[in-house]
Amino acid sequence: MTDTTTLRRYLTKGDLDPNLIFLLEDIASACRSIANLVRNGAFEGNLGSANAINVQGETQKTLDILANDEFERICSNSPRLAALVSEEVEEVTWLKEPEEGDYLLYFDPLDGSSNLDVNLSVGSIFAIMQVQADGDRNVLHDGQRQVCAGYALYGPSTILVLTDGSEVAGFTCHQGTGDFRLTHPDMKVPSETSEFAINTSRHRYWDAPVRRYVDECVAGEEGARQRAFNMRWTASMVAEIHRILTRGGVFLYPADSNNRDAGGKLRLMYEANPMAMIIERAGGAASTGFGPIMDIQPSGPHQRVPVILGSRSEVERLVEYHTEAD
Ligand code: AHG
Ligand code: MN
Ligand code: MN
Ligand code: MN
Repeated sequence: MTDTTTLRRYLTKGDLDPNLIFLLEDIASACRSIANLVRNGAFEGNLGSANAINVQGETQKTLDILANDEFERICSNSPRLAALVSEEVEEVTWLKEPEEGDYLLYFDPLDGSSNLDVNLSVGSIFAIMQVQADGDRNVLHDGQRQVCAGYALYGPSTILVLTDGSEVAGFTCHQGTGDFRLTHPDMKVPSETSEFAINTSRHRYWDAPVRRYVDECVAGEEGARQRAFNMRWTASMVAEIHRILTRGGVFLYPADSNNRDAGGKLRLMYEANPMAMIIERAGGAASTGFGPIMDIQPSGPHQRVPVILGSRSEVERLVEYHTEAD
């Protein structure tokens, strides 16, 4: 690896608004700090659950809260950041009087936090949108309005993947210097795949189209698809999406009979939308089964949605199965 393009060099090469660059650099700093918190969690007594429940009704891990505080503390330095929407905070946090063009940051400070205590991969997810007019406190914009989206994966290495709407690029955090260096330029999702990711313990709750799709994959050479499929489930969306960006695949967290009232499990504004933007800019597709995720007009900051995303041919097949069953 001879390319030593740093995150700053990469961001300043184009014509991005300097205030957006400041914000992206702050996000990168927050992720670097969270990577350290996660790695040192056992020494600092930070593993395990906090004595608190978030707006989702989930028991918060201590590190969910610490990671949220780190995002808030570091990103508050960005002069044009007007508001924060976090998985761990019920209300929108306003940092300034909103002016047209100010930035809105939506984030999942720690994704896959059930993996923390077993030392498996976790991550952070973020999306950035903009205030539409002076004084406008509306944060419920559809995903097509995202100006930037990304995630950090705290795996064997820490990698930050982001898109400003053009290509998708990955930056690995160098352990010696702490800087993020471009290691994965122009990431693309292979359009064909033989790998799917879904929590199959929910099989009994699934609707017919999802059941049909997975049953056909599992049937392998003997089934309608006449080929073998592989299955992976890490319970960390960031890790699943990074695998799919790297070698293809399809990820499903559908609405089912056990979560339908909530609308699904994953949250639109800081899980589904940013991952949809990344996957689509990398040539993949992202749907609820009935339409593009990024077309959804949000009804609340913590709204949940069904998620099907990854290699285009498999997502299109799943949409077909949903349309046929409708
Ligand atoms: P979070 O840890 O931010 O609450 O998100 C967890 C999500 C997501 O990362 C993952 O894909 C999914 O929940 C796992 O769900 P199961 O527990 O049903 O496997
Ligand atoms: Mn959670
Ligand atoms: Mn999450
Ligand atoms: Mn989370």
